Order: sequence, then structure tokens, then C-alpha cells
Amino acid sequence: MILVTGGAGFIGANFVLDWLGQTDEPVVNLDALTYAGNRENLASLAGDARHVFVHGDICDRALLDRLLAEHHPRAIVHFAAESHVDRSIHGPAAFVRTNVEGTFTLLEAARAYWSGLDGDAKAMFRFLHVSTDEVYGSLGPADPAFTETKGFEPNSPYSASKAASDHLVRAWHHTYGLPVVTTNCSNNYGPYQFPEKLIPLMIANALAGKPLPVYGDGQNVRDWLYVGDHCAAIREVLARGRAGETYNVGGWNEKPNLDIVHTVCTLLDELRPDAAGPHARLITYVADRPGHDRRYAIDARKIEHELGWRPVETFESGIRKTIAWYLEHQDWVAHVQSGAYREWVDRNYGQR
Ligand code: NAD
Ligand code: DAU
Repeated sequence: MILVTGGAGFIGANFVLDWLGQTDEPVVNLDALTYAGNRENLASLAGDARHVFVHGDICDRALLDRLLAEHHPRAIVHFAAESHVDRSIHGPAAFVRTNVEGTFTLLEAARAYWSGLDGDAKAMFRFLHVSTDEVYGSLGPADPAFTETKGFEPNSPYSASKAASDHLVRAWHHTYGLPVVTTNCSNNYGPYQFPEKLIPLMIANALAGKPLPVYGDGQNVRDWLYVGDHCAAIREVLARGRAGETYNVGGWNEKPNLDIVHTVCTLLDELRPDAAGPHARLITYVADRPGHDRRYAIDARKIEHELGWRPVETFESGIRKTIAWYLEHQDWVAHVQSGAYREWVDRNYGQR
């Protein structure tokens, strides 16, 4: 049994589906179902006894203690977070609460639970903290990619809250001996990603004939990794990662945002030739994100050398799969874009 937090969100849901596709080891999935969490993502697991869904908050210590005592997990895989940089600029409080206080509460519950284990169960226990490359800060064009020894220089409320959580995780190992591992991953894309993030937003807007908002000059660079490859990396780190270590996870695939948007448009031109003219006509330059990090790049040699993990998808194969998924799941997009999410976008961005 493993305990997953945030398993109704984008990466967490992909991970749970992937995990239960590969093994019969059950999953307890704790998720607060914020705007980003969606039980529809897990619909294919309905009636599957290997998946126990719990609607709850990682800040709720009594709930965490009860779940750990009841299910005796051998590991915790911690995805739950507020994850969107733009939201963190508009409302940082939720980021501090979930990412910092929530991770602290989970670490304390894990420490109490782990202290009560003995023998192999204690030695084999793992707390896997899923984090981001954004904790390392912003790179110039000629700077070397982030290695695991790069100091933290977070620039947004989101990345600062994730950096704080990474520091807590590190300290709980150093001070209390809790067997933690942290992964710092680059930008994911793939099925079930909420259409507030660059790639699904561009797909959804292009399909709706709406403007494709490119921040600033569109030359900010991100490293892109297909979500299935991230899930595989997490499985490897959980199985064989050394306690107390951090592992960078990346796609060896740096691209300026504008290239990404053009790739999405070109593929949609091919797959939706009926649209009124090339999709790139919808590209619209808008005001830059405050504090926008210029470039992220991940050096993922450590995980490759130690654990033999490398991404399987190329960007070309991954983006095709992703666009095909969104074309087949337009109901999912319409559904998650309604209600509270719609109100937030209208309030902060107007009709976008
Ligand atoms: P997401 O926003 O899609 O999902 C987050 C999930 O956490 C949602 O299901 C939400 O309901 C849940 N959640 C939020 N607050 C909670 C709380 N207080 N208690 C319990 N559940 C709560 O995020 P994602 O993109 O899937 O990211 C998952 C993790 O991976 C995050 O920790 C993020 O920092 C990290 N990460 C994401 C990326 C990326 O490109 N998306 C890259 C690297 C690392
Ligand atoms: O690097 C890993 C991080 O990647 C994760 O930790 C975060 O959880 C995840 O949200 C992502 O953060 P980014 O800020 O890089 O992702 P986002 O999709 O919001 O933006 C990607 C780039 O595209 C960024 O440079 C901003 C730009 N952008 C984004 C949006 C939403 C646009 O130009 N227009 C847009 O409308």
C-alpha cells in the first residue's frame, strides 16, 4: 500500500493510473479536490478495490494520522500542491498554506508513523516529495543546466513555497532521519493537465477560436517532459532512490514558448484542417508575467547514471499524443473550465 497525496490532479492522476496499470499494490489517494483536482480523471478506477479515494486536506493532521494508522503504507508520494505560478501571483496565501504548512503537517504525521515502525518496515519506508525545477531560479542563455547541487533562488510565490517545502523535507531527513527523497522536475505536459497551463490552454483556446496569449516576447525557455516519463521517473526513485537524496528529472528538451505555441498550431492545422485559417493567426502577445523566469534547464544525468531513467517520449511523439487526447476529450475541457474556475479567470483576466 502507498499513500498518494494530490492524486486527482494532473500528474498525481497520471501517476495513480500508471501505477495501478503496472502493479497490484493498492493506493490510498488523498486529495482536497480544489479547482485542479478532478475525480473524473480517475473514472476508469471506479469499483477497483486497489484504489481508495479520500477527500481531505493535507493540513488536517488528525486525518493524516488516521489514514496512516488504518492503511499502513510503505511509502508516501506527495504531489498535493497549489501548482500554478500565475495564481500564486494573484493569491499567494493558498500556496503558503498547502505547499508549506501542508508539507510540514504531512512530514510530522509521517515522522510519527515512521517512528512507530520497526525492522524492515522502518528501513524500507520512503517519503517521496515531488518538486519542481523552479526552486533553482532563472538561467541566462549560456548558463549551465541546473544540477542537484545548484543553490535555491526561487522568484515567484509558487517557487518560493515549493523551495520552502523542499527545505523542510531535507531538514526532516537531516534532523530526524526520516527517509525522504525529493524529485525536482521540469515542465510536464500530457493528458488531464488543467487548461490554465501553457500547452493545454493553447490547445483549448485554439479549438475555441480564442486568442493564444503569449507572455512578453515569447522567448522564455522551458524544458518539457511528457507526464508518463515523469511518472516512470518517480517509480524508479521510489524503488531505488537513496534516502536523503534529490534527483533532477527533465526531458533534455528546452524550447522557447513561442516554438511550443507554433508546434501546437501546426499540429492542429493538420488534425483540424476544417478550422477557419491557420491556428497561428490567433497568437496574441500580452503583458509579461511579473517576475517571469527567463529560462529553466535540467541536467538529468544523476537519475540516468544512478537509476537508469531516461525519457522515452520525444517532444514530437509526446505532443502528438497530448493533442490527440485533448481532441478526444473536449467534454473534459469544457467541464473543468466551468464553475469556480471560470469566475476566477473572468475576475483576473477578463474574457480569456
Ligand atoms: P495540479 O494543480 O494539477 O494538482 C494538484 C492536486 O493537489 C489537485 O488534485 C488538488 O486538488 C490537490 N490539492 C491541492 N491542495 C491540497 C490540499 N491542501 N490537500 C490535499 N490535496 C490538495 O498539480 P500538478 O501539475 O499535477 O503538480 C503536482 C505536483 O508536481 C506539485 O507538487 C507540483 O509542484 C509538482 N510539479 C509539477 C510540474 C508541472 O509541470 N505540472 C512540474 C514539476 C513539479
Ligand atoms: O518548471 C516546472 C513548473 O512548470 C511546475 O513546477 C509548475 O507547477 C507548472 O505550472 C509549470 O510552471 P510554468 O510557469 O513554467 O508553466 P506555465 O504553463 O504556466 O507557463 C509556461 C511558460 O509559458 C511560462 O514561461 C509562461 C508562458 N505562458 C503561460 C501561459 C499560461 C504564456 O506565455 N502564456 C500563457 O497563457
